[in-house]
Parts: sequence; structure tokens; C-alpha cells
Amino acid sequence: MKIGDLALNNPLILAPMAGITQLPFRRLAKEAGCALVVTEMVSANGLVHGSKKTSEFLISHPCERPLSAQIFGADPDVMKEAAQIVESVGADLLDINLGCSVRKIIRQGSGAALMREPDRLEAVLKAIRSAVDLPLTVKMRTGWEPSGQQAVKAARIAEYCGVDAVAIHPRTAVQGFSGKADWSLIARLKESVAIPVIGNGDIQQPEDVLKMQQETGCDGVMIGRASIGNPWIFAQALDLIQSRPYRRPGPSERLNATLRYIDYSVNHFGEDRAVRIMRSRLCWFTKGLPHSSRFRAAIVRLKTGHDMMDAVRAYFQGEIRNADIGNHGSRDWKSIRRSETD
Ligand SMILES: Cc1cc2nc3c(=O)[nH]c(=O)nc-3n(C[C@H](O)[C@H](O)[C@H](O)COP(=O)(O)O)c2cc1C
Repeated sequence: MKIGDLALNNPLILAPMAGITQLPFRRLAKEAGCALVVTEMVSANGLVHGSKKTSEFLISHPCERPLSAQIFGADPDVMKEAAQIVESVGADLLDINLGCSVRKIIRQGSGAALMREPDRLEAVLKAIRSAVDLPLTVKMRTGWEPSGQQAVKAARIAEYCGVDAVAIHPRTAVQGFSGKADWSLIARLKESVAIPVIGNGDIQQPEDVLKMQQETGCDGVMIGRASIGNPWIFAQALDLIQSRPYRRPGPSERLNATLRYIDYSVNHFGEDRAVRIMRSRLCWFTKGLPHSSRFRAAIVRLKTGHDMMDAVRAYFQGEIRNADIGNHGSRDWKSIRRSETD
């Protein structure tokens, strides 16, 4: 797939997720094989007003490139200036958030609110397009009612304004995450615009990627929640796309990825913040595995990245008893190993 001048190696894209798709997690997703990663949504106002906290969202690492930065806002001048900042810090692509339905964002006229204000949407996109050469995308929802008319209209406006691709999570703004994503709207957008269409919503397992491609004809597939704690979904989907059977990650793969995640987080956030953040993140990586609840209980007491790495090693290497996390034998570990590598 090509987005403007940017050619992607494969159709798989990590969805922007606030609080999750920070640099450390993006690196893991990238290592697992997705072609494009996206920052969490970044306030255009915050960027323009020089907020240090906001600018941190744009910190990147060469190995995650190409990187798409997503901004939200409603004022054409502010969005234009924010787009220039994104371009100046070296992002490879700019994405405009038309999907966020959080009350605070909607009240500002940003996110999904722009989908019911076509004139403002056009002004915002024209202002941005006139200011930057970066490939430009929009990420939208169905809109405010289920017919999909607002999405088709917004996609056409985007194309007319020079946007290079459109991503859609086909749930209405009021729906939140309830119900099912209506993939038929992805197919409808594909028929409505000539620019690439990226489908998103309810990819739960690697097979769903092929299913979405077949049912909708979409050019790219964006994966969000299913990748949390499971970046391997990208490698697995890629195997299927390339007509290879996929395998589940074995314990050493899980161990190494978890250690890298801690390492990247300490480097990115500094140790204190990383340790606080990783307490919840490590839980994702052990969810569903035997004795993970005892591991999780132990993790919350740890104070340094090294201690976390030791605990992770002990858990994954079957040294659970010695690591003071739980008191059980290695039989459980062998059974994980068998099922994980089957
Ligand atoms: C915790 C969380 C944070 C999210 N943050 C953003 C965001 O910052 N920008 C955005 O466009 N979408 C955001 N989304 C929506 C996702 O990008 C995606 O559209 C949605 O989760 C549906 O895809 P999925 O079914 O693969 O998860 C977020 C979703 C979740 C679960």
C-alpha cells in the first residue's frame, strides 16, 4: 500500500491508542512486523502552545519508522501550525483524528465532532494540506448516526482536500466500543473514494485480517486492542497474508519481548515513571498464563527496572518458586511450553 509517496511494506498498521501506543509499545509492534505505527492522539493546541508534556508524545526512535503522528483540534490555523510542528520534528506521516468521541474532545469541536461540521472539516484539512508536504490521513468513525452517510461525506471531503488515505473504525460516535464494527461501511468507503481505505475495528485474531480484506477490499488493516499485550498478532497476520501458517509465540519470545518492553520504557520514561507504568503493562503480557495473578501481585511491589526484569525472567523461566512470586512446581511451566510452541 502507498499513502501519498510513502510505500508501506505490508498492509498492517498499529491503531493509535491513548496511553498505550507510546514509543516503547510502538517499537514492539514494529519489531513484530507491522508496517506503520501511529502515536497516541496529540493536542494541536498543546503543540502550538509549546507544552513540554504534549511535545513528548512526538519523541520517536529511528527503528519505529515510518511513524505517523496523530493530532486533534478544530481550529484551522492551530491545526495548520501543529501540522508544521509535526513535520519539523520528522514524522513521516500526519493523521487527523476525526473519531474521538470523549466528551472533553467533542466539546472543543475536535475529534468526531468534526464529522458533523463538514465546512469546518474542509477548512481544517485545506489549511493543513496547504502547510505541509507530509502524506496526510484522517481516521474517522461512522459519524453520529448509523447510516454511514457522514463517513462517506467526510471521506469525500478528505479526498477533495488532498488527504492521501482514510482510516475508518465503523462504529458511531455514540456507540463507543459497544456492538459490532460495521465492516460493510469500510467496503462502502472503498467504493466512494479512490484514495486507500484502511479498515479498523474488531480484529481479534490474525484470521480476521484476511476476513476484513476479503469482505471489504480495504487496502490496509489497522489493529488496536488485540495487540495490547500481544504484538505478535502482527507477525501472525503477516504470515497468513503471505500464505504461511502462523505460530504462537514461545516462552522465550514472550520473555525477550517483555524484557525489551521494560528496557524501552526505562529509556523513554525514566525509571520511576517506567516502573509505575510497567506495573499494569506487564500484566497484559502474562494475562491468561498460569500463575500470572501471583506474578501480578508481586510486580506491584517492585521499585526498579532491574527488579522487574528479574521477576519477569524468573516467571518465564520457571523459577517462580525462587523468585518469591508463588510456590509451585515446574510442571505448570512445562505445560505452558508445550502448548505455546505447538
Ligand atoms: C485505550 C484506547 C485508546 C484509544 N486512543 C485513540 C486515539 O488516541 N486516537 C484514535 O484515533 N483512536 C483511539 N482509539 C481507537 C482505536 O484506534 C481503534 O479505532 C479502536 O480501538 C477500534 O479498533 P480495535 O477493535 O482494533 O481495537 C483508542 C482505543 C483504545 C481502546
